[in-house]
Amino acid sequence: MTLFPDMCEAVLSESIIGRARERGCVDIRCVNIRDFTCDKHNRVDDAPYGGGMGMLMQTQPIYDCYRSLYTQESDRPYLVYLSPQGQTLTQEKVKSLARLPRLALLCGHYEGVDERVLEEIVDEEISIGDYVLTGGELPAMVLTDAICRMLDGVLPNDEAKMLESHFDGLLEYPQYTRPPIWHGRSVPEVLLSGHHEHIAAWRRAQSLLRTKERRPDLLKTAPLTEKDRNFLKTYAENKPDDSLKTDASE
Ligand SMILES: C[S@@+](CC[C@H](N)C(=O)[O-])C[C@H]1O[C@@H](n2cnc3c(N)ncnc32)[C@H](O)[C@@H]1O
Repeated sequence: MTLFPDMCEAVLSESIIGRARERGCVDIRCVNIRDFTCDKHNRVDDAPYGGGMGMLMQTQPIYDCYRSLYTQESDRPYLVYLSPQGQTLTQEKVKSLARLPRLALLCGHYEGVDERVLEEIVDEEISIGDYVLTGGELPAMVLTDAICRMLDGVLPNDEAKMLESHFDGLLEYPQYTRPPIWHGRSVPEVLLSGHHEHIAAWRRAQSLLRTKERRPDLLKTAPLTEKDRNFLKTYAENKPDDSLKTDASE
């Protein structure tokens, strides 16, 4: 639900999401809130009561737009309002939203939205970070992209999504492709060895070290095994803090 459906269509018609829509893995509709206004001049916003800068999106067009999305209560889509005042988006939240059968996203614009319609219809507010954008369209595209990646058949290899950063609470290990030496920097030997067990162990270790170095906060909640914990403990005991590098030449 947006005042700028073309902006959303442009993003959602391209690349992996565009192909997933063509194949029917996901059904996405960009609905123009303005099509539902009862104002004879097609207006959807007005000045805020009490004064102040900017314009606010009005209740009526948003409410009627949302009501057009379903006829029976059992089909009512879960409604997320993209807002800088919402909970910050995480991969865990993405996974849980991806399990819902129907989801509607409300994009605010201008100074925001009349609070009463938010109270009436919104199930949850989600922010994409502690900064303010001009509209909810880009946040809605971020959320849509992240959710679509979780749906069956969207990625060429369904396992791929499980190997990325954040899926299992850790950052991903560093990756390399050809050539084997570039600007004097070699690809780590183990990756050229063809030894799958050693490669898996190296990747897990790099993932743990990278997370410890860049996002130590994630380690508090990541599902670590006993082996992972021992590895991190031994590493911390044997290396000074500034040596936590995922250096390609290691
Ligand atoms: C300029 S913002 C309104 C900000 C609002 N007056 C406030 O201070 O909370 C216009 C719209 O952009 C969207 N938006 C802006 N920043 C966002 C963020 N960090 N995450 C999600 N949506 C955001 C929301 O839909 C919002 O209604």
